[in-house]
Amino acid sequence: MSLEEKVAQLKIAEGVQVPAGAVFVNEVTGQDTEGYGSQEKPFQTPAYAVFKAGTEEIFVLKDGQYEKISASALKKAKKGADGLVKKAEKAIKAAEQLAQREAEEAKRLEAAKQIVITEDKSLPEAQKIKILKGAEFREKRVVTQGWIHRLRVQKGLVFIVLRDGTGYLQCVLSGDLANAHQTSTLTRETTVALYGTLKEVPEGKSAPGGHELVVDYYEIIGLAPHGDDAFSNKIAEDTDPSILLDQRHLALRGESLSAVMKVRAAFLKAIRQCYEEEGILEATPPCMVQTQVEGGSTLFSFDYYGEEAYLTQSSQLYLETLVPALGDVYCVQESFRAEKSHTRRHLSEYTHIEAELGFVTFDDLLAHLERLLCNTVDKILADPVAGPLVKQLNPNFKVPARPFKRMQYIEALEWLNEHGIPNEEGEKFKFGDDIAEAAERKMVDTIGVPILLTRFPLEIKSFYMKKCHDDPRVTESVDVLMPNVGEITGGSMRIDDHDELLEGFKRENIDPAPYYWFSDQRKYGTFPHGGYGLGTERILAWLCDRYTVRDCSLYPRFTGRCKP
Ligand code: 4AD
Repeated sequence: MSLEEKVAQLKIAEGVQVPAGAVFVNEVTGQDTEGYGSQEKPFQTPAYAVFKAGTEEIFVLKDGQYEKISASALKKAKKGADGLVKKAEKAIKAAEQLAQREAEEAKRLEAAKQIVITEDKSLPEAQKIKILKGAEFREKRVVTQGWIHRLRVQKGLVFIVLRDGTGYLQCVLSGDLANAHQTSTLTRETTVALYGTLKEVPEGKSAPGGHELVVDYYEIIGLAPHGDDAFSNKIAEDTDPSILLDQRHLALRGESLSAVMKVRAAFLKAIRQCYEEEGILEATPPCMVQTQVEGGSTLFSFDYYGEEAYLTQSSQLYLETLVPALGDVYCVQESFRAEKSHTRRHLSEYTHIEAELGFVTFDDLLAHLERLLCNTVDKILADPVAGPLVKQLNPNFKVPARPFKRMQYIEALEWLNEHGIPNEEGEKFKFGDDIAEAAERKMVDTIGVPILLTRFPLEIKSFYMKKCHDDPRVTESVDVLMPNVGEITGGSMRIDDHDELLEGFKRENIDPAPYYWFSDQRKYGTFPHGGYGLGTERILAWLCDRYTVRDCSLYPRFTGRCKP
């Protein structure tokens, strides 16, 4: 039976008089806002019936028949109706207020649209500055261009933190500048030119550089999107790391990533200065090569006009050939490794700093490495831009004390076995085992200071490493280990005897023919020499306390990622 049919069957209780204007309530099927109070379309609650119809003649459905409401139920209904009246009054008031606000907003918008931002030509001409140089221009009228890094509107004032790559500047817009419609369209990452006077911030308030720009005029150079495409929707704190990598071009604008990249620039500058002080010359070996250095399994090969060629794994062999021509040399060059595993410290492309030093002993090489690393770090910390950034990224960073702790491979095995750290097979370490990443990091993290780990066995190192005089099972090799990262540098003395080098090729199953230019060094005036390679991203991960080397590379390349 339909609802209508059921309603039609409802009867008025016998003997009950229904006066004109009476209303009906069905607490089961009635509806308050939709109902009319008629028998066919009754209200649902007595309270609503009183509220809506204003009558006490209310008939309520009980046991299939309408009966007049009882005195007690009517009393309750009246109370309920009072509540409904108050609620309705409140709703009306809220609607009125909303309408008023909308009207005011429309008026404000209209007024805002009338405001034309113009430059007061009677003001002194603004000098164009970079934010970093701000302190030199206090109390002067300047113009600075950059990106809106942060934006906040508060009581008729607009606060902008401007970023220009050299720093951050707090800027304040007030009066017409704050109220203008143009200002309400500003978004994060919009580019602007802000004109105004640089004022020292009052005591107790802080701002980057200790001053703020009191803006008197500004221009929009490029408006960044609103809505779904807005910068804050593309890059948020909790964005998935792989999405952040897709949006790397935007993520690099963030404070931490850009700080690491600035420290990176300072690192490269500092290490070049250190090489200059040591009298070591910069060289630029090729990236496209036909020889391997660190094992065939990590070579990236490509078709070079029909011949097989590789992206360089290391410039070491080329640097070795340069020593007789140019003296001690170094290079800052991309190296490429087809590393299949995803780890915190492996990239497919990294910036490799390598050096070759002639007529040195193994001890000279170790002392040089210590000096180079400490002097480079000292210079970075003394740099006015990078020094504070390192402190900000890694507040607990301390310059390592010299001399670094020295440990032989064999002593490391004892240490690992004593501390219950197993080898890759889950067993105790034995001579000849590789110390894999996890064990190495556990050791250096526990010891807590940089370690020069030396004298690795022949079989686990590369073909070119020189054997120790006192123990031909091991090589004059060194890995520099840093807490939190592990190996940041690998180096060794090089075999300088021609026949011994050929043995090395044989041991590693490498055809010596393509290496004639390298082997020739041992024929045409051989000399004792050694060198090393430093992983830029690994040093930065240590210095800036980053979890992974990916955070230390502009556009990191690793398995599965070669974009953007
Ligand atoms: O220990 P490696 O493989 O040594 C060489 O390539 C030598 N030929 C260098 C030389 O003596 N001239 O690499 C040297 C350093 C490592 O200590 C590490 O810091 C870094 O290069 N490195 C990597 N960094 C990031 N991703 C990778 N896949 C890396 N492989 C090595």
